[in-house]
Amino acid sequence: MSKTFYITTPIYYVNARPHIGHAYTTIACDTIARRHRMFGDDTWFLTGTDEHGQKIERAAQAAGKTPQQFTDEISAEFRALWQHMGLTPDDFIRTTSARHQQGVQALWRKIRDNGYIYKGTYTGQYCVSDELYVDAEPGAPCPDCGRPTETVQEENYYFKLSAFQDQLVRLYTEQPDFIRPETRRNEVLSFVRGGLRDLSISRSTFSWGIPVPDDPKHVVYVWLDALANYITALGYGSSDASKFDKYWPADVHMIGKEIVRFHCVYWPAFLLAAGLPLPKSITAHGWLLFEESKMSKSRGNIVRAETIVDVLGTDALRYFLLREVVFGQDGSFSFDALVQRYNSDLANGLGNLASRTLTMIARYFKGEVPYPSNTAHTPADAAIAETATKAIADYGTLFDQFQFSRALETAWGLVSAVDKYIVENEPWSLGEKKDRDEESRSRLATVLYTSAEALRIVTALAHPVMPDATAKIWAQLGLGDIRKFDLAGLQWGQLRLGTKLGDVQAVFPRADKSAVERMQTMEKVEDVVDVLGGGATGVSPVQPSAVRPPAAPKPAVAIPDGKISIDDFAKVELRVAQVKTAERVKGADKLLRLEVDLGTEVRQLVAGIAEAYEPEALIGRKVVIVANLAPRKLRGLESNGMIVAAAPEGGKPVLASFLEDVPVGTRLK
Ligand code: ME8
Ligand code: MG
Repeated sequence: MSKTFYITTPIYYVNARPHIGHAYTTIACDTIARRHRMFGDDTWFLTGTDEHGQKIERAAQAAGKTPQQFTDEISAEFRALWQHMGLTPDDFIRTTSARHQQGVQALWRKIRDNGYIYKGTYTGQYCVSDELYVDAEPGAPCPDCGRPTETVQEENYYFKLSAFQDQLVRLYTEQPDFIRPETRRNEVLSFVRGGLRDLSISRSTFSWGIPVPDDPKHVVYVWLDALANYITALGYGSSDASKFDKYWPADVHMIGKEIVRFHCVYWPAFLLAAGLPLPKSITAHGWLLFEESKMSKSRGNIVRAETIVDVLGTDALRYFLLREVVFGQDGSFSFDALVQRYNSDLANGLGNLASRTLTMIARYFKGEVPYPSNTAHTPADAAIAETATKAIADYGTLFDQFQFSRALETAWGLVSAVDKYIVENEPWSLGEKKDRDEESRSRLATVLYTSAEALRIVTALAHPVMPDATAKIWAQLGLGDIRKFDLAGLQWGQLRLGTKLGDVQAVFPRADKSAVERMQTMEKVEDVVDVLGGGATGVSPVQPSAVRPPAAPKPAVAIPDGKISIDDFAKVELRVAQVKTAERVKGADKLLRLEVDLGTEVRQLVAGIAEAYEPEALIGRKVVIVANLAPRKLRGLESNGMIVAAAPEGGKPVLASFLEDVPVGTRLK
């Protein structure tokens, strides 16, 4: 019987459309699932959408839609995008589906009947953006995301989380791989050791959720609702538990690092309370950053997967994310880096190796894999075979630890070794001589066989990462459908002699400079649409982009296209401030942390001016800041406003300043 393997992504909130942060997790899981399938494992890969709760209800309201209409539309966008990108989830769970709601209610009853739910009232702060009960004073921001919290006072149900403290600590200690990577495990361990309080698991002041069994005034807390997807999708609580019996417990819950507490503390506690087996492991990856901060809809610094896929194809995005970002750590996205990687590793790397090797086999051996000679071989051939054998082993080890970047590096080590081998052995010179001289012909056969066999191995290893291009190369090698290949048996020397090549075609056309521009333009168009479409909700910083709110009232005086009214300008609060302290931000070459005096208050700002100004030189200096910019976080530091500077193309920023002296706090108009 084959081994089962069950992997999940988080289910994504449908308050806004997907961006490459969501694609990142889903791609990683898709890649892992594909590799397991190639090993013959009975694999189940789940993704879906998280559709209940106050945040979604408000986003729908702001869009002028019913929550169901709204969630139907955005959930469909996620699904369509995954399909467009060729991702292969086996199931897509929506929390508004009947099967899920039924499963959640079954789980609730089980936990209740086991004695872990009691009634109470909650009075305290709530962060709608994180859907998190927070320990903060009224008026204080969310300690997790820095956004304003709201005071909630309502009748509710509590879950006896405190009863599980010891069991959880034991779990993390006895099963060190339960939470990966280790930094995240340590955070969770110290959080739980610090003491667990019972958790409110219902809400009664709004209605967009799953009714609590036997008390429908309440809806189930959205995180209990959401986490349960991992089992409801398998049929937990339904009449058909066959998938649940087969695939649960999950092998891997893959998540971003900001939702570790929900997955590593609340989720196992709920399962323990219900008497259900725990997932085998939870892996948290880092954040994709764009322009120095976490890519997220609420910050507005997002990039769409569609943009990249339309210009460079799906493989390019997959390869880039897994090769460029060290899995587990944060990593920056940029169009320049993407195109550079694409050209160096794909167009000039694997793509070039494939077209060179296959074209020469076509030309010199009528498109049939030649027989390597028994006599015409050199230590260089053996070295390639050895490098390939080692690459197979190392790639597997690294991949299984989710060290995708290093695994790919190993495989591309083989690509460059073969490139060098080809250059040194000059098959084109051998090809000129082969009809006159048998020795050249034998040597040519060996060199091309060796290159083609190495190409086959890299292609098989890279398939889960780049399913499209590798399937094409595989077919060009005359090997048929790569999805049928048993990866477990991969070893040097399996390429059969005389295999007839398929049609040879380039798989990674080189991207020129215009590729970057095209992608940037596509994203800019999107931004404009977002600004026009994003009616501020006043309650949630999240703006739905897929939908337009009713048009704003027409101004009394017509404003020509591309201009703004004086009222629009007046919305920007520009003020004079004086720098009190300035220091470099660790790990960020461009950033300074500043404290500036506005006359009425001192604020922290984070500014990207470190390459132009020494921190000491700024102290006492008067600068202009945008004082009413919504706070945002850069490298974990909250920035309350923005410093104004001229930003010359390709040059360093120059701070705006005054020739005459101006009092601190003065407004610019
Ligand atoms: O948290 N970098 O949904 P969500 C890397 N519904 N990954 C990112 C990312 C970025 N910049 N932005 C998003 C929720 N992600 C809940 C989950 S699960 C039971 C409920 C990915 O829409 C990453 O996987 O905010 C992150 O954890 C997830 O999207 C958050 O998606
Ligand atoms: Mg989030």
